[in-house]
Amino acid sequence: MQKRVALITGAARGIGYGIATCLARQGTSIVIADVNAKAARASAKQLAAETGVKTLGVGCDITRRTQVAAVVRQAVKRFGQIDILVNNAGICPFVDIMEMSEAMFKKTMDVNLNGAFHCTQLVAAEMIKRGQGGRIVFITSLAVNVTSAQQGDYAASKAGLHMLMKSFAIALGPKGITCNGVAPGMILTDLTRFHWEKPEPAAFIKTRVPVGRIGTPEDIGNAVALLCSPQAAYINGVGLIVDGGHQAVCA
Ligand SMILES: NC(=O)c1ccc[n+]([C@@H]2O[C@H](COP(=O)([O-])OP(=O)(O)OC[C@H]3O[C@@H](n4cnc5c(N)ncnc54)[C@H](O)[C@@H]3O)[C@@H](O)[C@H]2O)c1
Repeated sequence: MQKRVALITGAARGIGYGIATCLARQGTSIVIADVNAKAARASAKQLAAETGVKTLGVGCDITRRTQVAAVVRQAVKRFGQIDILVNNAGICPFVDIMEMSEAMFKKTMDVNLNGAFHCTQLVAAEMIKRGQGGRIVFITSLAVNVTSAQQGDYAASKAGLHMLMKSFAIALGPKGITCNGVAPGMILTDLTRFHWEKPEPAAFIKTRVPVGRIGTPEDIGNAVALLCSPQAAYINGVGLIVDGGHQAVCA
């Protein structure tokens, strides 16, 4: 496969780092853009040592359009191109929707939805300028379809992200740029560890996830790599659920 360059948001840890690992194993150069600049640099260094690919770790708050534009410029200056964008950065405060402050609601929307808008518009403009097509993957959630009282902001942002993905898929398809979603099920990361490592939720996984285990960041990374492969050229505007069969189980 031709050498490619991927920009992944929120990849200093968790699912983003798992995605970076899977793409790096295919020889893809990786740009880790994370609001935690120190962690982004450290993770980029670690990934380069683990996989041998070229990496760049940069601080970037995706809610700030000027910061996103600066990272895109930096990535193009360093690697000459961006072939893949993964809109992965996201937050989930887990607060009851009746207790949630307006500021918290707006912040979730800003990171999970508006941030992906900035990244996609700015990276896609660069892809269009280069004229070689591209791949854009949006990390959504099962919360596109189901939610809870503690995930009102999160589910609204992720359902919005799913439709944003579809709009970009229509706009960018003619330029050879595909846009798709990956909806992870329950994945063990720092975002969710506090919950899934308790005895009751851990037992729930065994009975409610047909494959019998919680997901890993690399389970999601492998799905992203699939959608970014040349074989996926005709897959555009769809959401792929990667949950070990969890959502197939009747309540
Ligand atoms: N873990 C799960 O079970 C699960 C399930 C479904 C969907 N997801 C989605 O997967 C994505 C990654 O989740 P995770 O579990 O790895 O989370 P995580 O909290 O472990 O990692 C998220 C990363 O995003 C970064 N980030 C946060 N705000 C940012 C901002 N404004 N700009 C740039 N970077 C920012 C954080 O610094 C962190 O490194 C999120 O979009 C999340 O909604 C996770």
